[in-house]
Amino acid sequence: MAILLVKSGGEDAMPEWRAHFSEFAPGLDVRWWDDASVPPAAVDYVLVWDPEAGRLGTMPNLRVIFGSGAGVDFIAGDPALPRHVPLMRMAPAGATQRMGEFVCWAALSLLKGARRIALNQAAAKWDYFEPEYTATETTVGIMGLGNMGGRAAEMLSGIGFPVVGWSRTRKSLPGVTCFAGDAERDAFLERTKILVCLLPATAETRGIISAPLLRKLPKGAGLVNVGRGSHQKIEDILAALNDGHLGGAVIDVFETEPLPADHPAWAHPKVIVTPHLASLPSRRERAQYVAKAIAAHERGEALANLYDHARGY
Ligand code: NAP
Ligand code: GLV
Repeated sequence: MAILLVKSGGEDAMPEWRAHFSEFAPGLDVRWWDDASVPPAAVDYVLVWDPEAGRLGTMPNLRVIFGSGAGVDFIAGDPALPRHVPLMRMAPAGATQRMGEFVCWAALSLLKGARRIALNQAAAKWDYFEPEYTATETTVGIMGLGNMGGRAAEMLSGIGFPVVGWSRTRKSLPGVTCFAGDAERDAFLERTKILVCLLPATAETRGIISAPLLRKLPKGAGLVNVGRGSHQKIEDILAALNDGHLGGAVIDVFETEPLPADHPAWAHPKVIVTPHLASLPSRRERAQYVAKAIAAHERGEALANLYDHARGY
């Protein structure tokens, strides 16, 4: 019987993982990551979010590494990662749907002044105001047009937002004006009224949301970061909010998570902070996705959505 080690959600999550895998892959022996009775050579598969560096390299018969998230930077960053073992990223339909929902919520929150409304309610203050623009007058620009960005673009368009997108290689998405590469980045930013970051964490994208990029956005633009904390220089974002260049921000990801209680982003009147929850598919959805992939792999079929070591995502 093939063995799957799981490190996602802690040991307390194991009964739930086992229940789902017993439904979708009854032939699989599902064990907790630190189960001392499993010798490293017996491990066939792992499902992990942030394995300790060096550990995957001790498993000589590992067949596939399944990332528990869409971004596998916490796995790929291991200098001793066994690079010959396929590393599969999580992308069930439920994950892209949830991300699309979050991005629509964030864009509408910026459009309708949700942070101002929440602060007024907390102060019992009847502060009537009219949002200046409709969705149809507010172009959303998405950096990263992959699994997540593509679905978010589709759902934003459905609400009526004009959508533009930017990626490394050129994409063609219905109703989306697509820009590609560094040479077209400024043209993309100049027409973006709400910027959404859905990039992977790579050497090229580190710190991309900083003062020079923010200055290219029109005055009063909004920002939604649902990529990674490493994409942003938070002090530049707060400075742009304070001087009025940015109108508001929804930030889901931070360099240090949990965000420390004394961080200025928490209390900022133009910032909505969410605790890295934009898109987490349920354990059931993830177990089904992994079970299907294991079955395909064991039939000798190629796996989809693999991490590419050369491009870094
Ligand atoms: P994906 O399918 O690999 O898409 C990544 C997109 O980014 C692609 O369009 C890619 O361009 C583009 N890209 C990469 N490097 C670039 C660069 N240097 N310049 C311009 N574009 C670049 O990944 P995904 O599944 O959509 O996920 C994207 C990221 O979202 C994840 O890596 C993770 O960090 C984040 N995420 C966050 C949450 C959350 O809850 N906050 C949940 C899920 C995912 P090409 O199309 O040319 O390859
Ligand atoms: C969450 O951040 C993910 O990458 O799935």
